[in-house]
Amino acid sequence: MGGTAAKSLVARLMTPLMGPLMEQRRKIVSGNWKMHKGLDQARDLARAIASGLEPGSGPEVVIFPASPFLVAVVEAVSKAAHPIGVGAQNVHPSPEGAFTGEISVAMVRSTGARHALAGHSERRQLFGDTDAFVGKKVRAILDLGLTPFFCVGETIEEREANKTIEVVARQLKAGLDHVDANKLARVVIAYEPVWAIGTGKTATPRQGAEVHRFIRSELAKRSKAAAEAIPILYGGSVKPANIRELLAEKEIDGALIGGASLEAAGFLEMCRAAREAG
Ligand code: PGA
Repeated sequence: MGGTAAKSLVARLMTPLMGPLMEQRRKIVSGNWKMHKGLDQARDLARAIASGLEPGSGPEVVIFPASPFLVAVVEAVSKAAHPIGVGAQNVHPSPEGAFTGEISVAMVRSTGARHALAGHSERRQLFGDTDAFVGKKVRAILDLGLTPFFCVGETIEEREANKTIEVVARQLKAGLDHVDANKLARVVIAYEPVWAIGTGKTATPRQGAEVHRFIRSELAKRSKAAAEAIPILYGGSVKPANIRELLAEKEIDGALIGGASLEAAGFLEMCRAAREAG
């Protein structure tokens, strides 16, 4: 039996004895495909991921294709040996209405998708999503039973002005203030420093872990149990060459990956790295 298998067997045997002390936060590897891939390519990528994932333990895997392809991608991964979650990259918080071009959470849910991003920095920066609007999205996603991947992160100007903590605190507050206490633990948070997204610059594991610790301490003010349960992912130029050192930080529970999630072999390698990180 390999080291990882032995470790997980010990954890399984010990859990009933030790209770929550042995509980580990779930690990998540997720791919944000952004505005890439047509229908056939999205289906092919989803199928390649589905057939390449090893069954059994391993990280939770979630992919975020472009919205027109949600149904096709949900279908493509439906028989995967290792379950794969599918999510929308954006939603509108209203149940319905005159919002040309937008999609509601219920519409996303009807495709079979069970996750949605909220507050991605590209939405905030390019499409004017405010902190308050992001908060409404997080709430709407939770209210319909989906899992929000709530993104926060500072720009380079904010980091250089020593405002990282202030900015992340503000985003967290607005994003979570309208969330019912009993739904908080269902949130997934992604810390994505804007200066690291699509730039090839990654935060060092230590820089990431520092902000993750802060986020967890803010969550603990709302609920200690939720703070322990909520996975906090890192995002920003994550790739096969750097994911292992990021996941070696115990504060980093997984990754939200853009560019490097567009190709099956690299994405599968990152899923393997997360499985080995345990
Ligand atoms: P990147 O994008 O991995 O291409 O930097 C991450 C993201 O935007 O979620």
